[in-house]
Amino acid sequence: MATTKKTAKKKAVEVVETPVEVVEAKRPELEVEAKRKILFVASEAAPFIATGGLAEVVGSLSKALAQKERYDVRVILPLYQDVRKEYRKEFRFIGNIFVPLSWRNQYCGIFEYVKDNVTFYFVDNEYYFKRPGCYGYYDDGERFAFFCRSVLEILGFIGFYPDILHCHDWQAALAALYLKTIYCFRPEYQFIRAVFTIHNIEYQGKYSLDILEDLFGISYRFRNLVEYDRCINLMKGAIECCERFSTVSPTYAGEIKDPYYAHGLDPIIRRNEFKLTGILNGIDPEYYDPATDKALFANYSAEDLAPKAVCKEELQRMLNLPVKPDTPIVAMISRLVSHKGLDLVREVIEQALRQDMQFILLGTGDSIYENYFSDLARRYPGKVVSIISFNADLSRKIYSGADIFLMPSKSEPCGLSQMIASRYGTVAIVRETGGLRDSITPYGAGGNGFTFHDYNAYDMLYVIGEALATYRNKAEWTALVKKAMTTDFSWGNSASHYEKLYEDTLK
Ligand code: GLC
Repeated sequence: MATTKKTAKKKAVEVVETPVEVVEAKRPELEVEAKRKILFVASEAAPFIATGGLAEVVGSLSKALAQKERYDVRVILPLYQDVRKEYRKEFRFIGNIFVPLSWRNQYCGIFEYVKDNVTFYFVDNEYYFKRPGCYGYYDDGERFAFFCRSVLEILGFIGFYPDILHCHDWQAALAALYLKTIYCFRPEYQFIRAVFTIHNIEYQGKYSLDILEDLFGISYRFRNLVEYDRCINLMKGAIECCERFSTVSPTYAGEIKDPYYAHGLDPIIRRNEFKLTGILNGIDPEYYDPATDKALFANYSAEDLAPKAVCKEELQRMLNLPVKPDTPIVAMISRLVSHKGLDLVREVIEQALRQDMQFILLGTGDSIYENYFSDLARRYPGKVVSIISFNADLSRKIYSGADIFLMPSKSEPCGLSQMIASRYGTVAIVRETGGLRDSITPYGAGGNGFTFHDYNAYDMLYVIGEALATYRNKAEWTALVKKAMTTDFSWGNSASHYEKLYEDTLK
């Protein structure tokens, strides 16, 4: 600057002799600049910490986007005590800051780890996150408020101002709210656009309005953004203030406009419909590959199906079921909660069990279902096995060893299990809702599985019968298994839809 000024002064008195030399910016810097910067804000991500589908999607979608040259993809997560040790020991400490949250001023350590071209940041504060698991604490509101506020403070610390701040579910909703109420008035933040994704509309982050300023640090002047039904509703707040929002399947995007599916938020969804998109989730085909999965008793592929029989035989042996290669195994792997369609199963499973089949259930959840399925197994020894636990290794053995996968959800934003089962050659039976409808198409119409439309136990029983009958025709069944296995559930297509969503948002 000083030199320029001097030159300018000189020029004022002297006659201009030599033109000022313009130095071009260096090309590599330009290329880096040209990349779209995307920051995911989420409460979990595989493989570091996972309690459900959200983690898988954050982990695999960020990886899929980062494979595209034009994106610089980063993810920010809380550093829970349960973040997997094998990764944690590789994290690099990059510094610490203090984060304001209303009258609080909290320590925030920042760790960094790069995996598959994605930079992950972890927010460290032992008071908030050194506890088992991710959720279910009396102060979850404060914990995620601190996390979201940290996200915005960290941007300044690392000097990374994304084009898109992509927030997932209610735990990240406050990042969008803070951006639009506090930070967007600062020059570096003013061009950041917020995208919000609903993975499940059931969990909205509802709190008493009394704590808006004292706990969340949001001025009452912004109260209309977050207030809904006389409460703070963080999901509603994010929907109101983001530039675009999405959900995890096109069908669910339509369904959440309807009170049957929206858990009270349908008026808000309808009002903001103009910025809503539904994009079907994918799965990571490398992570879920029956040809390489080490958890399986044997590896196989659509071209070499024979070893799938070994998976079935060993599974039956392991679970003390009669080893019968020709008896179809119907499996469910699910959280045992009502919207997974367990009431339908309860109503007709005993009728289904009159046919030649074995039934395996793996999952934990509400005690009413845990007790019911434990009792069912006691009453049908050698035919029903219920394993009341969450066991990733066993789930893969079941995905590969079973023949039919039952997922009759009452509502299902996307669902990944039906895709994983299909990829492992276990044919899905689903209710036509949300992502189940968008990923599984009816066999009768040339599709990759079996479906029923109404939430009705006897419709489901009928379709189970149809699947069991098809199973008995070996040639037909093998063709269907191959069809399920070769359906493209990868991120390819869906990642392009996210690209389009980002570009539209930035227009
Ligand atoms: C939630 C939804 C599930 C979806 C997952 C990932 O867990 O309930 O349907 O697949 O999020 O988006």
